[in-house]
Amino acid sequence: MNTEVLKGIDGIKKGAEIIKDGGLVVFPTETVYGLGADAMNESAVSEIFKVKGRPQDNPLIVHISDIEQINMIAVDISEQARKVVEAYMPGPITVILKKGDCVPSVVTAGGKTVGVRLPNNELARAFIRECGTPIAAPSANTSTKISPTKAEHVYEDLKGKIPLIIDGGDCEVGIESTIIDLSVDTPTILRPGAITASMLASTLGRVDTFKGEVIVAKAPGMKYKHYAPSCEMVISDKPEKAITKYKEKSALGAKPIILCAGKNKDLYRGMSYMSLGDTDDEIMRNVYGLLHECEKHCDYLICEDLGNDGKCGSVMNRLMKSAGGNVL
Ligand code: TXA
Ligand code: MG
Repeated sequence: MNTEVLKGIDGIKKGAEIIKDGGLVVFPTETVYGLGADAMNESAVSEIFKVKGRPQDNPLIVHISDIEQINMIAVDISEQARKVVEAYMPGPITVILKKGDCVPSVVTAGGKTVGVRLPNNELARAFIRECGTPIAAPSANTSTKISPTKAEHVYEDLKGKIPLIIDGGDCEVGIESTIIDLSVDTPTILRPGAITASMLASTLGRVDTFKGEVIVAKAPGMKYKHYAPSCEMVISDKPEKAITKYKEKSALGAKPIILCAGKNKDLYRGMSYMSLGDTDDEIMRNVYGLLHECEKHCDYLICEDLGNDGKCGSVMNRLMKSAGGNVL
């Protein structure tokens, strides 16, 4: 299959035709690129699982173009859920709600809840609107690989398997949406993201943050290895440890690299390193692009621990998975 890459209105028009014919289209969002299908078309949705190599028990997020569509796919929307929707949608957040009957069970992996997301990216919303149907979409990467934040990342990974990539340039946020479960009495964050726990707590009064045990039960996706570069990767909680490991690997003839916070880059002078950025927002925006670079050019990746707070904590949630939990 030939994979076309189109920008702007050309991409939207062609993409909508493909979706209406039951095909798959990659489209940009503010978080990462998504691999979309008509959420109401079971066979189109099944194709997403095949192309990604994704386990069938991992549910997909349904993307909408306008807030009113939420009532079409979800039912029993609580007061708390409405508050979150009001405060953060459109934006980098997915709300888990009780699913409406019209949503096929292949989308929700047989579950009674559905993840709903209204992206804050104009091109994404225009595309979904043109399709005239909600769009089921996971991140547009082969399962377990690094999520794409540029059309080039998708092309590299999925060329020949999908007919069209709508190129919207770099994703502004850079990591996947925050996921909050609002189908339960106590709102619970299942995946941290740019909308942080403290932001949500200020809206809701109280929110439970994800803990290992909860996550496994509620977000099936979390039990699989995720966001992994093809080279070996470890997390370093102290610069001295990173430097020692770097030297050890270099002496063995490997090509190590250190990924660090901008403020620490001088510590690694003379070594091969890349700065993740100086601010939290920069770090979120850059992280996946740098992982893609590193896996191309290096064979051992040492990444600084950025701590557990706020947006950096959300980035660390991904990086810890990329490293398979390996800490120096
Ligand atoms: O930013 C994002 O959310 C991107 C863009 C494309 O919108 N999408 C994305 O999708 O990251 P994906 O499939 O790569 O990750 C979605 C996660 C999975 O871990 C899945 O298990 C979880 O959301 N999920 C989806 N529906 C769920 C549900 N009903 N209950 C619990 N977890 C759910
Ligand atoms: Mg993903």
